[in-house]
Amino acid sequence: MQNANPRLKIKNLVQRYDGRKVVDDVSLEIWPGQVVCLLGPSGCGKSTTLRMIAGVEMQNSGEIWVDGNLICDTVFRVPPERRQIGLMFQDFALFPHLRVGENVAFGLRGSKADKGMRVEELLRRVGMSRYLEAYPHELSGGEQQRVALARALAPRPSIMLMDEPFSGLDNRLRDGIRDETLEILREEETAVLLVTHEPEEAMRMADEIALMRRGRIVQQGAPYNIYNAPVDREAVAFFSDVNIICSTVNGALADTPFGQFLTPGIADGQEVEIVTRPQHIKLDFDRSGTGPSPTIENGTAARGTVLRSRFMGSESLVEFRMEHDGSTLKATVPNVFLPKPGKVMWLLLRRNRCFVFPVETD
Ligand SMILES: Nc1ncnc2c1ncn2[C@@H]1O[C@H](COP(=O)(O)OP(=O)(O)OP(=O)(O)O)[C@@H](O)[C@H]1O
Ligand SMILES: [Mg+2]
Repeated sequence: MQNANPRLKIKNLVQRYDGRKVVDDVSLEIWPGQVVCLLGPSGCGKSTTLRMIAGVEMQNSGEIWVDGNLICDTVFRVPPERRQIGLMFQDFALFPHLRVGENVAFGLRGSKADKGMRVEELLRRVGMSRYLEAYPHELSGGEQQRVALARALAPRPSIMLMDEPFSGLDNRLRDGIRDETLEILREEETAVLLVTHEPEEAMRMADEIALMRRGRIVQQGAPYNIYNAPVDREAVAFFSDVNIICSTVNGALADTPFGQFLTPGIADGQEVEIVTRPQHIKLDFDRSGTGPSPTIENGTAARGTVLRSRFMGSESLVEFRMEHDGSTLKATVPNVFLPKPGKVMWLLLRRNRCFVFPVETD
């Protein structure tokens, strides 16, 4: 049966440096044609995870499987060059003494004509055709990166590990190269593990995101689920600014100036945070001291004073000092909306976009 096994499977990988667990029990599966993104802040263990899969570093414990075959545990180990895994790492390096075309052809087998065609095709797709004969030192950093990408894609690896592969490209170029790369990888049914610390990149590229923090995967799922059903406040905050409204549970409810929130499964007396993103705060004008009427969708309005407002391009960001407790809340409004500091407005929360989390006390 085809595809009975994931192309790549890692089980309970652990890596310690100086006694500190840098990768802590990480497990993942990637199927042919699937793009999984390891997303997390700097230092959380993303590159270390990739290095173990590539085989350039040995894990303390855990297993790596390819197409149902064990390729590495703590005893047995297939050497990196025999893993047939494509690599595109942060510190990629082209061979300085080889021309661009020779760099891309490096890992290719077959006739000269076949190799030539493959090289030409890939250079065209990354927009580097006219540099076929150039040497790496004649290229900019971003151009070198595109050549490295072409080189990694050329031998059609069945698994591709990519560590921030687009970080050296400017925004406009990046979108095009990203889409082109994805298309090539999908065409070839490659299983891709992409590392990034940029949420936009993960959302744009991944079929599945594995959110990583302090060596652990804290949440995994489709981008839509990670964004809309975050596991905790940090998971919300990783993707956008957050607003936090504090309360305490009483009778399975948290009372706030914005109305009551259900707190299923949280004990009475527990402090909670109601977390929401700036785009899910609604604004309304003050009508001589009163605001809009409460609704089921948006709860009760609370009053605040504009601290500052800024135009951000496609939206405006307005910060408020709230009357009830002096806290600051941020709201984004599409297009241009720049109320003057000191202006009084009413804020409402899109209740189905609010998340209630217990406050962790250590
Ligand atoms: N060879 C090593 N020896 C000791 N500590 C290391 C080694 N390699 C990495 N570390 C540490 O392990 C942690 C995880 O590093 P890693 O490179 O995996 O992070 P990362 O998630 O890729 O971060 P970034 O987004 O900045 O690239 C860091 O605290 C780093 O300092
Ligand atoms: Mg890294």
